[in-house]
Amino acid sequence: MKRTKYVIANWKMNGQKDSYKLVKSISNYHKKMKRKTSKVVICPPFTLLSEFIKKEKNIKFGGQDCHHKSEGAYTGSISAKMLKSINCQYVILGHSERRIYQKETSQELNLKIQSAINNNLKVIYCIGEKLEEIKKRSIILKKQLSSLPKKIEPKKVIIAYEPVWAIGTGKVPSLNDINKIHKKIRNILSNLVSPDFSRHVSILYGGSVNAKNSADILNLNQVDGALVGGASLKSKEFCKIIDSYH
Ligand code: 13P
Repeated sequence: MKRTKYVIANWKMNGQKDSYKLVKSISNYHKKMKRKTSKVVICPPFTLLSEFIKKEKNIKFGGQDCHHKSEGAYTGSISAKMLKSINCQYVILGHSERRIYQKETSQELNLKIQSAINNNLKVIYCIGEKLEEIKKRSIILKKQLSSLPKKIEPKKVIIAYEPVWAIGTGKVPSLNDINKIHKKIRNILSNLVSPDFSRHVSILYGGSVNAKNSADILNLNQVDGALVGGASLKSKEFCKIIDSYH
């Protein structure tokens, strides 16, 4: 079984009511591509998700977070069940910006992952070390990966390795390092979950991916795609990234 490749856009807190034109131009480009090498998923803010899902059938969509409970007195939160009810198919969980600003813990993330999976959402689970943690990267990644349920099928989750120091900074680890770290993640997953899971799960790279560096990164043998922030808000740039596979 070949691993599925993805190019995923994380719009973060960006996107207004006229942003559908960005989705449309990406979708048109993707439709015209002769060789569709990867699945394209766009994760806009919650305010736009339902509209995009109704209007655009060629692209898949995801939320940027979900609560671990299905409903209740949790002001401001959105549940996995709610996302599923609007036919959303993916959800980003554990993004470093939420781990940092919302103080999301491993325990909470474990509950969110389980809730997302129970509601048939595919989880894009983000992990990555901060600059001051580089020397203990393996320990950090292992701790973050241990939020995954022990029994989980590779098709239920996508791992996104996003070094915090590479997000929005223009700094990217060397190609050799990216490949080595992805391999390390697979080794950790082999022990934490199973060898079969680690062989088949897609592992994406994220952090300052742009149209210039995407071909080099996406064609590494341990990399199964990219999670793109800033560059996903520019149509031409994002389309070039989608088209990066040799
Ligand atoms: P940038 O591509 O802007 O560095 O953001 C990466 C990211 O955080 C995607 O989730």
